[in-house]
Amino acid sequence: KRLAVFASGTGSNYDAIVEAIQKETLDAEVVLLVSDKPAAKVVEKAKANQTPVFVFEPKKYAGKEAFEADIVAELKKAQAELVILAGYMRLIGSTLLEAYEGRIFNIHPSLLPSFPGLDAIGQAFDAGVKLTGVTIHYVDAGMDTGKIVAQEAVRIEDGMTKESLQQAIQEVEHRLYPDTIQQFIESGE
Ligand code: GRF
Repeated sequence: KRLAVFASGTGSNYDAIVEAIQKETLDAEVVLLVSDKPAAKVVEKAKANQTPVFVFEPKKYAGKEAFEADIVAELKKAQAELVILAGYMRLIGSTLLEAYEGRIFNIHPSLLPSFPGLDAIGQAFDAGVKLTGVTIHYVDAGMDTGKIVAQEAVRIEDGMTKESLQQAIQEVEHRLYPDTIQQFIESGE
């Protein structure tokens, strides 16, 4: 399948997807990297990999509908089939949802519906829960509310810091996201 990865940050999940493709454990191709942050690390990485990049500045548009119309045009041009959100820090609007219905996935660093929104790892850590994890879900108009596709638990051991918890969560993310995308592809949906 032809994937478009959306990211605003470091892009470690983008890296994991690219690696899985190289190792042939993920039967896909990243045909476009979409970012709302021209200075993001992930943009640099994508350019170095020769992944085509569409970077936009939300401020330069009248609103979400306008920049999503441009995104959809780029997705169509690249013939993207699935949209993979990987640290894209924005809610998806109706323009994109309608164009890619049932084809947009997100990864979130908690066991949803617990700890949606920003800093889910910090939220779980501060709440003192013993178990958190990673969720991959379909994207709908809400914040981290779409139907759940896959989840994996991560135990918060005594003595863990926020940093070591983050590391444990990222390890799970980097395996679970490519695997879940592959399973979706194999399901033929
Ligand atoms: C990940 O923790 C993901 O769960 C969340 O944003 C983070 C992105 O990290 N949605 P990276 O840019 O892939 O390293």
